[in-house]
Amino acid sequence: MDIVLSGIRSTGNLHLGNYYGALRNFIRMQDENQCYFFVADVHSLTTHPDPRYLHENVKNVLVNYLAAGIDPEKSVIYVQSDVRETFELYLFLNMHAYMGELAKTTSFKEKARKQPENVNAGLLTYPTLMAADILVHNADKVPVGKDQEQHLEMTRRFARRFNNFYGVEFFKEPVAYNFGQELIKIPGLDGSGKMGKSEGNAIYLADSPKEIEKKVKKALTDSGPTEFNSPKPEYIENLFTILRVVSAPEVVQHFEDLWNRCEIKYGDLKKQLAEDIIKVTAPIRERIIEIENDESYLRKVTTEGAEKARESASKTIRQVREIMGFKPF
Ligand code: TRP
Repeated sequence: MDIVLSGIRSTGNLHLGNYYGALRNFIRMQDENQCYFFVADVHSLTTHPDPRYLHENVKNVLVNYLAAGIDPEKSVIYVQSDVRETFELYLFLNMHAYMGELAKTTSFKEKARKQPENVNAGLLTYPTLMAADILVHNADKVPVGKDQEQHLEMTRRFARRFNNFYGVEFFKEPVAYNFGQELIKIPGLDGSGKMGKSEGNAIYLADSPKEIEKKVKKALTDSGPTEFNSPKPEYIENLFTILRVVSAPEVVQHFEDLWNRCEIKYGDLKKQLAEDIIKVTAPIRERIIEIENDESYLRKVTTEGAEKARESASKTIRQVREIMGFKPF
């Protein structure tokens, strides 16, 4: 069985785009692999988050993942800051990570531009911390989005460099986990682009049916098509894109036909869309409410997760120390 490691940004609640883009695939991934899922709270420190909200954000991500079907019986689920071995490996890997290569990482250059008043060393060494997350379990595979491919490439380079320097075949070179199908991208309801938290156009898994109805009702439309079989403008196509994901094929066809005959009523389309989004999210939302109020369950999951993760990580650290020449007296 492959070891798969998945790092999750601790940015709070998840939306429909997260669900169809990654989360739903993760649930299947658990059956064929030994999966580790962790919430990357230490990585979030690079932007100096307010300590009052740090825990809440970690909790929200955790609750959303568990509610959607990430299963602590099948996978190891933990919080990054609980596994101190990661930070030891981070320090060791930093001794073999060079200023030049770190400074030219795309994510570093972007962040340095965005927060010129806070270009800290944690930002520079973000890729070494991510490499430590992965290598501390000697993972085979890592599911990553486009924006993280360079970091994974650097992880492979750090692994290779460590092996070469110490003359060992110790670290594996982790590859991207391939879901074997086109990832579904969910657009926003505001006309163009994708659904995103920072875009402010997201429908959250935790949203109530009322909130979802309100958000869908506000989606950008126009006065309707005037020519038979005309192409749809992007903002209407986006509504159909989401409909294709959440609704039955007959329902989609029904609205396609209405569009083509210029008989579409956007009010009806939106009503249907909201209803079918609610069908998908309602059971997850119910579990979110249940889990977020169950402190003892959350404590149990994170405690047991940290124990299992530290077991795997400390095994790696013991061997790394030996390879590097540390010896007890
Ligand atoms: N950098 C990743 C992101 O922004 C999160 C992350 C941290 C991660 N450590 C990881 C992802 C290790 C995969 C493996 O999405």
